[in-house]
Amino acid sequence: MPITTCIFDAYGTLFDVAAAARSAAAEPGRESFARHWPAIAEKWRLKQLQYTWLRAVMGEHIGFWQVTQDGLDWALESEGLHEDSALRERLLQLYWELAAFPEVPDMLTALKAAGKRTAILSNGAPDMLDGAVRSAGIGDLLDDVLSVESVGIYKPAREVYDLVGQRFGCAPGEVLFVSSNGWDACAAAGYGFRTVWVNRAGDPVDRLPAAPERQLRDLTGIPALAGA
Ligand code: LAC
Repeated sequence: MPITTCIFDAYGTLFDVAAAARSAAAEPGRESFARHWPAIAEKWRLKQLQYTWLRAVMGEHIGFWQVTQDGLDWALESEGLHEDSALRERLLQLYWELAAFPEVPDMLTALKAAGKRTAILSNGAPDMLDGAVRSAGIGDLLDDVLSVESVGIYKPAREVYDLVGQRFGCAPGEVLFVSSNGWDACAAAGYGFRTVWVNRAGDPVDRLPAAPERQLRDLTGIPALAGA
């Protein structure tokens, strides 16, 4: 079945989530943050994701902006930086203006030139996603931005992946689902999507019921895999 629709995870896949901490560390007056930023970026991301999974299991949904703040607060406290409220505010502000990975515009342009439908499917709240799409300048290259907020549960709940067929009227086998989160790519493969795990770090495959069909180191190979 030909691929008609390419669906992208947002944070970590199209947008570089480490960019917030890395950019803050490069700002004047933040020299002492330079040795902390890699740990903050990693712990912030890990706690943010853990809180989405835990809240989904507990039936305690709250929007991704709150989960993002909660994850950052845990990370800052674990590095002894929780009293630096200016740093906290700056990191949160930067999260709304994350850079896209450099290959993103050309990759999306190639998919659109080949007539593929393109969209984001993300845990992010609609206003956060709008901010990131706008600051990356890729709004014209996406047919839609789908958020879990319309179903009120986080990935990898099946209701989230259902949003793609509901929006585009396509079968799972026509969808190429692209994520840098190994667990998201595994779950999407189990759902029936064709899947690519963008494994920039060369991590091992998650031990889950299904595995991603393909792995790439970055997004440049996506148009070829989509038949574009
Ligand atoms: C997202 C997170 C999981 O964008 O990266 O959905």
